[in-house]
Amino acid sequence: MDADVAPRLPGSPAREFSYARRDFQRVREMIYAHAGISLNDSKTEMVYSRLARRLRMTGHREFGTYLDMLADDAHPEWEHFVNALTTNLTEFFREAHHYPVLAQHARASSSRPYRVWSAACSTGEEPYSLAMTLCEAFQTDEPPVDILATDLDTQVLDKGAAGIYEMDRVDGLDSTRLKRFFLRGTGTRAGQVRVRANIRKLVRFQQLNFHSAEWGVSGQFDAVFCRNVLIYFDKPTQHRVLRRLSAFLSADGLFFAGHSESLLHAADVFTPIGKTVYRPAAANRGRLHG
Ligand SMILES: C[S@@+](CC[C@H](N)C(=O)[O-])C[C@H]1O[C@@H](n2cnc3c(N)ncnc32)[C@H](O)[C@@H]1O
Repeated sequence: MDADVAPRLPGSPAREFSYARRDFQRVREMIYAHAGISLNDSKTEMVYSRLARRLRMTGHREFGTYLDMLADDAHPEWEHFVNALTTNLTEFFREAHHYPVLAQHARASSSRPYRVWSAACSTGEEPYSLAMTLCEAFQTDEPPVDILATDLDTQVLDKGAAGIYEMDRVDGLDSTRLKRFFLRGTGTRAGQVRVRANIRKLVRFQQLNFHSAEWGVSGQFDAVFCRNVLIYFDKPTQHRVLRRLSAFLSADGLFFAGHSESLLHAADVFTPIGKTVYRPAAANRGRLHG
């Protein structure tokens, strides 16, 4: 095998586009500098298949020339490049043990509106699950809540704002929730569901890159969900993001992490109080955004 060519998985067909090891390394450096996302060697094939679609769309024959185009930071292809490299796996009521904890906290809190931030919200299933939980907690379809949903990827934000999903995405939900919170599609929308308008109204979608100097977010939150995104960052980046997020959390606020994300290295920022649920560490309370 040519040592300069990114290795292919055994048995995989010949590549449509020329893709050298150096191309993978360039992608790795670019996405790390832009979004803090760390890609290790095991992602070589994933990068090829995700970006091959972009080469096809933009009429490039080689990764090298496609990547040269991105030397211009303001090139519109950057948005597609970034969107192609994010991993957006999510589901309604994922890691379900978090939602009763949130409901109890919201009921006990005197903060109105009760503010929640779904940071790295992907296609919207997480912030909508938060909205549904809070409707149930406050026993009304118009609860006194404000939910901010942010993500780096503009395509998933559009999908989230539309609130339209294939029927199989709601397979695991009980019929009470389905009836209360979703509309069933008919005609050309058969096989799909849409989150009801009153639930969509509770969620604001906004683009935010954790790696940017400016986040464009203000105020304090009663709960922050930042789940299954830290795993894409190295430890120094994780720590920086956690510190910045913690400054948006009220002193008695809750921070929810993903199941495989240990915050042990951030004990100066968050103190565990349950299964992947945290409070701001005492020493860290009252910090200003920064
Ligand atoms: C696997 S999804 C997690 C979705 C949801 N939180 C959950 O747990 O089901 C990870 C999300 O993180 C987003 N992401 C990756 N890097 C980011 C960054 N630098 N800033 C903001 N969001 C980012 C991706 O676009 C993706 O939608």
